[in-house]
Order: sequence, then C-alpha cells, then structure tokens
Amino acid sequence: MPRPVTIAERIERAHILDRPITALSRTVVRALPAGSRADALHGVPFGQPAHPALVRLPLGCWTSAVLLDVFRGSERAARVLVAAGVLGIVPAAATGLADWSALHRDQQRVGMIHLGCQGVAGLLFSGSLLARAGGRHGYGKALSAAGLLCASGGAYLGGHLALRLGAGANHADQVSHLSGLGWHDLGPLSSLPEGRAVRRQFGYLSLLVYRSPDGVHVLSDRCAHLGGPLHQGRIVTERGGACVACPWHGSTFRLADGRVVHGPATARQPSFETRVTKGGLVQLRPRP
Ligand code: FES
Repeated sequence: MPRPVTIAERIERAHILDRPITALSRTVVRALPAGSRADALHGVPFGQPAHPALVRLPLGCWTSAVLLDVFRGSERAARVLVAAGVLGIVPAAATGLADWSALHRDQQRVGMIHLGCQGVAGLLFSGSLLARAGGRHGYGKALSAAGLLCASGGAYLGGHLALRLGAGANHADQVSHLSGLGWHDLGPLSSLPEGRAVRRQFGYLSLLVYRSPDGVHVLSDRCAHLGGPLHQGRIVTERGGACVACPWHGSTFRLADGRVVHGPATARQPSFETRVTKGGLVQLRPRP
C-alpha cells in the first residue's frame, strides 16, 4: 500500500492531467480577468488567501454530520449540517479555482485531483441529503460517510499543495532575517538607469531597484506569490502610483512601499527606505 505522500508525489508528475488542466485553466482565466473581483477571490483585501479559511465550513459541517450519524445524534441537525456543507463548497470552490489558475504545473496537477475529490464529496453529500429527505436514512448516512472519506483525501492533497509545494505561502525573502539593521550602501546613484528596473545584489538578498525622478525605490526581487523575478516585470501606474507587475502571474506591487495592488499575491512585498548621500551614494535600510 503506497504512503499518501508517495501518491501525492506521483500526482505532481502525472502529465496525463495536463490537457484538462490547460483547458480548465484557460476557462478560469477568461472568466476571471485581473481586477477587483479576482483580487477578492484571491484574498488580497484580507492579506492572505481566502480559500483555506472558507474550506473549514464544508469540512467542519460534514465531519460534524457524520459524527452525529455515528453516535445516533439528531437526524434534523445532521441534515442541516450536510446542507450547510454543500452550500459552503460554492465559495470554497470559487476561491480555490482562482488561486489554482495562477500556479505552477506540478501544483496544478495536485490541485486538480484535490478539486476532483472535493467535487465528488459534494455530490455524495448532495445525494445523502436527497436520500435523507426521502426517508432512506441508512442510505443517506452511508453516502455521508463515503463523502467524508473523499473530502478527507482531498484535504490531504490540499495540505500537500499548501505545505509541501508552497501554494498560498509567502515566497518573498525574509528580509528581517537576512539583512542587518541600520543603513547600508547600495552603490552610486549614477550607476542606476532612470525609468528602468534593474536587479542588484545586497548580501544574500536580490533586489529590484527602480530610479525615478522622485527618488530610488527598492523592493525585494523575489515575488511574494511564487518567487518570480520582479525586476523583469512591467512598470505600470496603478491608483496614481508607480507599480511593478510580476512577469509570471501579474501580481502588482506599489514600488513606494511594496503594497499589493493586484493579486494573486496577498502578502506585501518587502521594501526598503532609501536616501542619497552628498557624495551621490544610494543607501538603504529595510522598511519596518
Ligand atoms: S510569481 Fe506569481 S505573480 Fe509573481
């Protein structure tokens, strides 16, 4: 019997899933263009992905319903919990699909099976609800138990996706652990081209440096979403300020302070305060 992690690792490499993934991914991207709706589904206003919080409702309700069935609790309460769980999968699926559409392919393969498991669980619990409403309580309980088994398998893959493959985690460098306190020299101002983002190395950190007429902006170069190279991104103006759009999935960060303007990233991009000495040397320190 293969260990669960071995199965999850096999799914990561299951190229057979690539065709349906491409089709579904295109559909989701077409239905969900960049903007405030997509940002809300990614969880940008909350500062972290919305999907993990929303999946607690169906999983919690369904687990409670099966426990009521096992310990001969109230049938009415079990029915309410099953129904609440079935309704709860709608927002969970919407946020999950939005996040899934902006992942790497190995992550998408695991996400696809995760989605399939939760979809089948939703169908089994819907069937359970119908069976219970028709007076076939034993059959309804069996369908609920099968649904919970399926949802638990899906939840395991969701954990693998988030904790092993890092989907939804903050991938920006941990600046506070990698740079000392106080001001540090970056280099002469004259070495920085105006109006173009460049990459500079600062100790262990890779930085995006952008010189504009109003000063020098510095962000950590590793995108908070999945580690894309921000210095290769487009410089755009959003909400009256200069921003950088990541070349991989389009997360947009304000250059002045790293704030997320558009997802899929939800975590602020680490940024630095800068000053120019009388001798024309650019200095920086991590912004608190
Ligand atoms: S790596 Fe995905 S938006 Fe930057």
